[in-house]
Amino acid sequence: MAYSIDLSGRIAFVTGASSGLGAQFARTLARAGAGVVLASRRIEKLKELRARIEGEGGDAHVVELDVTDHDSIKAAVAHAETEMGSIDILVNNSGVSTTQRLLDVQPEDYDFIFDTNTKGAFFVAQEVARRMIARAQGAAPGSFTGGRIINIASMAGLKVLPQIGAYCMSKAAVVHMTRAMALEWGRYGINTSAICPGYIDTEINHRHWETEQGKKLLAMLPRKRVGQPQDLDALIVMLASDQSHFINGAIIAADDGFAV
Ligand SMILES: NC(=O)c1ccc[n+]([C@@H]2O[C@H](COP(=O)([O-])OP(=O)(O)OC[C@H]3O[C@@H](n4cnc5c(N)ncnc54)[C@H](OP(=O)(O)O)[C@@H]3O)[C@@H](O)[C@H]2O)c1
Repeated sequence: MAYSIDLSGRIAFVTGASSGLGAQFARTLARAGAGVVLASRRIEKLKELRARIEGEGGDAHVVELDVTDHDSIKAAVAHAETEMGSIDILVNNSGVSTTQRLLDVQPEDYDFIFDTNTKGAFFVAQEVARRMIARAQGAAPGSFTGGRIINIASMAGLKVLPQIGAYCMSKAAVVHMTRAMALEWGRYGINTSAICPGYIDTEINHRHWETEQGKKLLAMLPRKRVGQPQDLDALIVMLASDQSHFINGAIIAADDGFAV
């Protein structure tokens, strides 16, 4: 018999689903059977994705979310649960980057990166975890089958890279945040792990690969290639599934060997 993973009956909340990795994570989880909540600021993009997922036979719902706004986080998670049911899987993916040397980083640049990548990711996870823990504590024995929090950090959280030092710092914090969550929330049946992608061709960097600097960077990569969003499909489905119940606090590099 072929090995398979079925996420039917599970609800996944995907932040930053309007483009790049988030859009691909949402489509992949929907294909595996999960109902998906598509969350970010660009509602029109989310609606296009919802139509695509529904066209593929999946179940998706759109919710507006700005992870830098605490009220928006609370409202989006509450709205998602009202519409789709309790969240089983969080893909904590929203993120931003800037390219600048450390000496050029202004307080507003620092806040822009950390408010989204670190503080935003933390409070989204906290809001979802609160609800998962309430279910775990209130559930009849055996009825809460466990939650999954998958933080999208970066290989830049493991290895410092030039020109994006502040981004590296913000993602290193996500790596440690993942371990802290795994330690505190594991006892409630929540498994928290981080994916640290290497360079993947998305909106965040697409134009960079055409520049001289981008070409130089490409030449430095172990196999002289950037990944595609679908290169993370198997990993996201595995971490979202019941089969990953023994994986907690794992920091998984998916970077074609760049961080070694
Ligand atoms: N591509 C790579 O090479 C790579 C490598 C390692 C890690 N990552 C990480 O992977 C994640 C996804 O990046 P990507 O490559 O897919 O980039 P992307 O295409 O630019 O997507 C970024 C997503 O974040 C969302 N976002 C930004 N600010 C937000 C906010 N304030 N509130 C809610 N959502 C917000 C955007 O949605 P809206 O604009 O609609 O709000 C967008 O959907 C990021 O955390 C990034 O750091 C990417």
